Amino acid sequence: MSRKRVLITGAAGFLGSHLCDRFIKEGFHVIGMDNLITGDLRNIEHLFKLEQFEFYHHDVSKFIHVPGELHYVLHFASPASPIDYLKIPIQTLKVGSLGTHNCLGLAKAKGARILVASTSEIYGDPLVHPQNEEYWGNVNPVGPRGVYDEAKRFQEAMTMAYHTFHGVETRIVRIFNTYGPRMRLNDGRALPAFIGQALRGEDLTVFGDGSQTRSFCFVDDLIEGIYRLLMSDCHQPVNVGNPDEISLKEFAEEIIALTGTTQKIVHKPLPVDDPKQRQPDITRAKEILGWSPKVSRKEGLKVTYEYFKSLPKEEWFKQPKEFVAK
Ligand SMILES: NC(=O)c1ccc[n+]([C@@H]2O[C@H](COP(=O)([O-])OP(=O)(O)OC[C@H]3O[C@@H](n4cnc5c(N)ncnc54)[C@H](O)[C@@H]3O)[C@@H](O)[C@H]2O)c1
Repeated sequence: MSRKRVLITGAAGFLGSHLCDRFIKEGFHVIGMDNLITGDLRNIEHLFKLEQFEFYHHDVSKFIHVPGELHYVLHFASPASPIDYLKIPIQTLKVGSLGTHNCLGLAKAKGARILVASTSEIYGDPLVHPQNEEYWGNVNPVGPRGVYDEAKRFQEAMTMAYHTFHGVETRIVRIFNTYGPRMRLNDGRALPAFIGQALRGEDLTVFGDGSQTRSFCFVDDLIEGIYRLLMSDCHQPVNVGNPDEISLKEFAEEIIALTGTTQKIVHKPLPVDDPKQRQPDITRAKEILGWSPKVSRKEGLKVTYEYFKSLPKEEWFKQPKEFVAK
């Protein structure tokens, strides 16, 4: 029996690489695509020896050609952390708009079902708490984060239009903060930032007074939610995340306890448009997908810390990637 074929864009990134693993495990033929702008081939190098895996080094904001049949497309290519998309704003806008358009066109041409990776950032700095899928968001389009948030909002609109006007089978996942092995220590997000500082013996930087909240989902839980959504018949957006909310100050304290660092917490000014609170309402995911997260923060953090600790020491000190402005 021939294998079902799935294209995963952003395959060399944090989430894309875990998706590749999952679809290989499920018996799919996986075609990974990535331009490596923020990703790293080391995340998927264990897959290159497999017959059911192939890789295209390609920018999805340019026309995409994949020969042969395609049953599913998962569009995960996009810079995802502020430290990246603030440095490459135009590429971020392009991959969310042109890249999504190319993926939708490919799905239409192949008769494939497509799932796009949206984000809790489409809710902006939310005025509704927790955030459910009916909430339209509070986004500043011309603020520094607008390039990411609005690209993702456009992505959702374009995906819905392909569903409505072309009858393409579409799925939209709104991903809330996710963590786990293969994140980059220097990607600027709170969790790797705190762990990186603890490993290097530096104080932990909390922005503002640390009362802003986040809800962290372990990567295995997220991948399970995405897999279920893809296989469901729901074309409406679905939040996938862990509702276990914590303030960033308390979170920093948890990291101090976990790592045993003797360093302290220091405060720095809050970045512009930083969301004050974040918590997914996952009622829809529970009802439609029978999904809820299984991994506690304590378990997930332990696995993630062990991963970062096992990296060669020079990785702990590596500076964030510099990009060529385009
Ligand atoms: N990690 C999270 O907590 C989170 C939360 C919400 C949404 N998301 C979404 O999930 C997706 C993956 O995020 P991640 O955390 O794995 O980020 P990541 O940076 O680790 O992975 C993104 C991948 O996309 C690739 N890429 C970027 N632009 C590309 C282009 N034009 N053509 C081809 N490849 C390109 C990068 O090289 C990288 O490998 C993104 O769409 C992001 O917006 C992630």
